[in-house]
Amino acid sequence: MKNVALITGASSGIGKELAHIHASKKGDLVLVARREEELMSLKTELEKAYNVSVEVFVCDLMRPHSAKEVFEFIQSKNIQVEVLMNNAGLGGYGNFNERELSKELDMIQLNIVTLTELTHLILPQMVERKSGKILNTASTAGFMPGPLQSVYFATKAFVVSFSQGIAFELQDKGITVTALCPGPVKTGFESAAGMSGSGLFEKSASASSTAIKGYKAMEKGKLIVITDGSLKFAINFALPFAPRKMILKMIYKMQHIK
Ligand SMILES: NC(=O)c1ccc[n+]([C@@H]2O[C@H](COP(=O)([O-])OP(=O)(O)OC[C@H]3O[C@@H](n4cnc5c(N)ncnc54)[C@H](OP(=O)(O)O)[C@@H]3O)[C@@H](O)[C@H]2O)c1
Repeated sequence: MKNVALITGASSGIGKELAHIHASKKGDLVLVARREEELMSLKTELEKAYNVSVEVFVCDLMRPHSAKEVFEFIQSKNIQVEVLMNNAGLGGYGNFNERELSKELDMIQLNIVTLTELTHLILPQMVERKSGKILNTASTAGFMPGPLQSVYFATKAFVVSFSQGIAFELQDKGITVTALCPGPVKTGFESAAGMSGSGLFEKSASASSTAIKGYKAMEKGKLIVITDGSLKFAINFALPFAPRKMILKMIYKMQHIK
């Protein structure tokens, strides 16, 4: 396989679109997620449309050390990963004290632990080759606290911070790290997070436009890409100066489902 991108959460939404873009550039792929049928039909579609090779690895990335299973799979196939896209993730709506703790911990496992572990396992290949690109799907949620999705917002703050930290450490090693930070996007995320009916997704971007912006930023080796223009302005020029309690009230109201 050549110019291989490993994409987690490739069975739908932003990850699926990222797979299309990479394949359209004649890159081979390793697709990872839980839904086998979706992954297999994407494999067939991409191989036919772009004449690329696609491997599928069905895996629940919420399980501890599932990242190791992904890594063992690519090792068994002798695959060198040129592009790592840590995209799998999910949210969860509700007051923290009323939500099941196991769901919060599963979210942390998927959004933070597996992402960190997989990055750590794959980086040595990239360091040895002195080349590689990492695209971590974070969120604009990573720049603010998020009442009614407190754990989700905190996981994305981790992704934003972690991505920038390792980007600096790796800058002389031929490896770039980009945090993709979308605002609301029309995908399976809304219902998976239990947020159907929230006004937050009324003006959502498409998964395709989000993936295009993310992929381009990754190609350029940018640190961060905020794909929603008005949120970019708010994050850079309004939120840093607004009173914390006002921000919390605003985000609570935006997320609240009546
Ligand atoms: N949509 C938004 O508004 C929005 C905004 C900002 C950031 N994001 C981030 O964008 C990323 C992609 O989400 P999306 O919007 O494209 O939503 P999506 O359509 O629901 O896609 C989520 C992907 O993650 C995979 N996934 C979820 N749980 C998994 C698990 N336990 N093991 C393996 N894979 C798992 C899903 O695959 P399976 O179900 O097949 O496992 C799916 O491929 C996430 O990190 C999300 O936090 C989304």
